[in-house]
Amino acid sequence: MHLLTMNDLTNDEINYLLDQAQLIIDGQSNQYEFKLTGSLLFYEPSTRTKLSFEMACHQMNINLLSFSKETSSVTKGESLYDTVKTIESLGADFIVIRHPDEQFYEGIYTDLHVPLINAGDGTGEHPSQSLLDLLTIKQEFGGFNGLSVAICGDIKHSRVAKSNARVLHRLGADVVLVAEEEWQDPTLPYPYIAMDEAIKQVDVLMLLRVQKERHKNGGLVNSHSYLQQYGLTKDRERKMKPRSIILHPAPVNRGVEIDSELVECDRSRIFKQMNNGVYIRQAIIDFCIQKGGVLHENHY
Ligand code: CP
Repeated sequence: MHLLTMNDLTNDEINYLLDQAQLIIDGQSNQYEFKLTGSLLFYEPSTRTKLSFEMACHQMNINLLSFSKETSSVTKGESLYDTVKTIESLGADFIVIRHPDEQFYEGIYTDLHVPLINAGDGTGEHPSQSLLDLLTIKQEFGGFNGLSVAICGDIKHSRVAKSNARVLHRLGADVVLVAEEEWQDPTLPYPYIAMDEAIKQVDVLMLLRVQKERHKNGGLVNSHSYLQQYGLTKDRERKMKPRSIILHPAPVNRGVEIDSELVECDRSRIFKQMNNGVYIRQAIIDFCIQKGGVLHENHY
């Protein structure tokens, strides 16, 4: 089974993945006793997603075939399709890809015999991030039904916003968005409200990174005025509901989306999200392998 978008998962499958990750956190071993090999193909930079998939593989006793765009035959013009088919034929049992093109997986996944896991496709989706965000929310509130969640910031360029807004709505949460007009996304059918309203009403305040590298103007953002108008200042944090929490997929532009002093405040679950990422990615790999079967022994 491939994991390309959150739509690939039913609500029951999402809850299964969250429960599996929590069992691993609570001490259940997830080590394979047979030989398994994965490969992580990152065509865009990453710290958290790539290293947490690596850590997940270490903890599951999975070997990794190393790949770097800069030192591979990608530099000689090899296509994504040929690169992926090569890695499959070398023996990888699953392949994780991050790529700048939205839906990079079209024209590839139907010809693959091993699971393909999307680690972020341009401004499209980021399902493994979405699942770790859901896990962090579930740990806090026990579920999603009736929760109020605001997704705030550079929504137009954010794959995290797209995955999370739709799935949180599907799971019963009340989703609102906060963004300046230029960064709103008309494909998401949820109301836009002001940041000063959002902080008073939501249980989860999900901040997004300003994605300067995807902006046509080269990412010219006045940090101070952005923080004052759309970001989480110390004054706004004081007005949040008593049990509400702050999420951010990171990397954080400190002093832009959030006052630097709030990154590790009591409400912040930003580093908890990263820690949860290791366990949710173990659950994802296991789920895709179990559903798809380990084909290499009989495929070549
Ligand atoms: N949140 C996230 O995707 O971070 P990285 O870009 O560092 O993987």
